[in-house]
Parts: sequence; C-alpha cells; structure tokens
Amino acid sequence: MKLVKIVLGGMLVAALAVPAAFAAEKDITKSRVPAGDLEKAKAAKSPVDLNAADVIARGKAIFAGKGACFSCHGDTGKGDGIAAAGMEPAPRNFTNAQFNKLRTPGEMMWVLKNGSPNTPMIAVIPAQITEAEGWDVIAYERSLGGK
Ligand code: HEC
Repeated sequence: MKLVKIVLGGMLVAALAVPAAFAAEKDITKSRVPAGDLEKAKAAKSPVDLNAADVIARGKAIFAGKGACFSCHGDTGKGDGIAAAGMEPAPRNFTNAQFNKLRTPGEMMWVLKNGSPNTPMIAVIPAQITEAEGWDVIAYERSLGGK
C-alpha cells in the first residue's frame, strides 16, 4: 500500500513537472538589452523587408538548419525544443503574439549579437550565423507570432 502511494506520488510529481519545464519563460515584458544600449538597439533597422515571404522562408531554413535555433526554440518556435527540457529560463515562445508587441526587431538583433545576459541564449552572431542571416531568422521568428 505504501509502495502504491509512492508510485502515485511519483507520477503526480512527474505530471506536474513536465508542463512546468516548458512554462518558465522569464518575464517577457522586460527588454534583454541593457538600458545604456536600448535606444540604439531599438533604432536598428533591418536592411531587408521582414514581412517578405522570401526573407521569412530564408529565415526558416536558418532556424531549422545552420542556426540550430530549433534545438531550444522547438521545430515550430514554441520554446519546446529537444534541448529545452528543464532549461531555466525557458527559450522564447515565438508563437506568443504578445512578444512581437513587446520587442522590436532591433532588440532581437542585439540579443543575437550579445546573447541574453545570464541565460542559455548565447550570442550567435558572428560565431554561428552572419548578421544578414540574423535579420532573416528574426523575420521568421516574428512571422510565427502574427501581427
Ligand atoms: C541553447 C538553447 C538556445 C539556442 C540554440 C537558441 N536559443 Fe534563443 N533563447 C534561448 C533562451 C533560453 C531564451 C530566453 C532568454 C531570456 O529569457 O532572456 C532565448 C531567447 C531568444 C530571443 C528573445 C530575446 C528577447 O529579447 O526576449 C531571441 C530573439 C532568440 N532567442 C533567437 C534565437 C535564434 C535566432 C537562435 C538560432 C540562431 C536561437 N535563439 C538559438 C535559448 C536558445
């Protein structure tokens, strides 16, 4: 009887732990850009049209390929990639429409170049992708959340 209770207890813990592992995004209302860099980051303009279908398609290929963004952000950008289980904070869920309202493309570019401080999101430009590829992948990520 005691054993059954332990097993049931274990199952309950596991059932609660799974959604929590993917739910813990750090407060998305706060920019990841330090105050001193924020104005400049926000003003950065993409050289390509972030709404253009060909740009978004290029970005998708980088997200799923060379950039390996999918490994944390998930195949569909929900923040539930294979490497994301238990990750603290959780990778950004780009399908959350709120995110596009809270963040400019320029702030996202700052994160691609500098990483999000004190999180598993490390700088990917120039180590992994070029700046031009960065704008393409930003276009793709923003396309997931709608307007
Ligand atoms: C090792 C896992 C990992 C990989 C790989 C990864 N990310 Fe992230 N990413 C994260 C995490 C974790 C966060 C959340 C950081 C935070 O809350 O500040 C994040 C957040 C972001 C953000 C949001 C920053 C903000 O302002 O809130 C952007 C944009 C982003 N990632 C883009 C990318 C792109 C593009 C790639 C691929 C080139 C990529 N990430 C690859 C883990 C990853």
